[in-house]
Amino acid sequence: MTINLTKNLKYYFEKAKREGFTLGQFNFSDYSQLKGIVEAGKRLKSPVILGTSEGESKFFGLQEAVALRKVLRKKSGMPIFLNLDHGKSFEYLREAIDAGYDMVHFDGSKLPIEENIKISKQVRSYAKWRGVLVEGEVGRIGTDASKVYTEKFEIKEDDLTRADIAKDYIDKTGVDLLAVSIGNFHGIEISGIDPNLRLDLLEKIKKETGEKAFLVLHGGSGTPEDDIRKAIKLGIVKININTELRLAYSGNLRRALQNNTEEIVPYKYMPEAQKSLEKVVESKIKLFDSENKIY
Ligand code: 13P
Repeated sequence: MTINLTKNLKYYFEKAKREGFTLGQFNFSDYSQLKGIVEAGKRLKSPVILGTSEGESKFFGLQEAVALRKVLRKKSGMPIFLNLDHGKSFEYLREAIDAGYDMVHFDGSKLPIEENIKISKQVRSYAKWRGVLVEGEVGRIGTDASKVYTEKFEIKEDDLTRADIAKDYIDKTGVDLLAVSIGNFHGIEISGIDPNLRLDLLEKIKKETGEKAFLVLHGGSGTPEDDIRKAIKLGIVKININTELRLAYSGNLRRALQNNTEEIVPYKYMPEAQKSLEKVVESKIKLFDSENKIY
């Protein structure tokens, strides 16, 4: 059975909401990571969103990311999409849109809300006529860093998304998706399990915003699995994963090179690192229940 590749990303978000699963956004900054994400998606017949932050995309190249997404999509016949994650300016997101990204995330969460609304609107109007989806953000998702925290990470109450502000932001900007701050943070605590999400707050945001925008969860690494399942039930249609992928990939690479200091051939030591990343992506796809959801 061939897949109808004319189905766009919005179709899959709507499908996720209707059928109660979530799409994984998996970040990458090199080709083996990108291949690993696509391989895992292919094996489990899951749509996948490839993510690049500003830093990741500057290292990899915006046009290069789009070109490879196109090639891999054509070769695999899989619904593979590309999102510019945490873009901080209209200008950079415009470059990503022009390069051919399927979706962009404007992170104006550190700006005063009026400024966040103003730039989000600008991004939205540029993206809309080009068929590109826009994710906005209200509330500050604790920490920018994808790393392992040796001390307990404290979420500040003031950083959580306020339901009334989220509603106003969505009404004024018309963004397609909203990233929420409900106790989630980028990175992972050393225990491997982050504190519980504020699911009560997610429910409140969902009710108050009238589900006008799809809801997104960042900082998916280390989030307790039960919280993930409940968040999906409450309507989260995209979960971003980065730190767990980096840990598996870099850890495997470090060990391989330390164990065999004579080895200098990348195509001999890279495949194992790629496989270790694939395992993480597969386990997330299963947890997100996006397996066999490509049609
Ligand atoms: P983690 O690094 O915690 O998985 O978060 C990734 C993320 O939210 C990227 O936007």
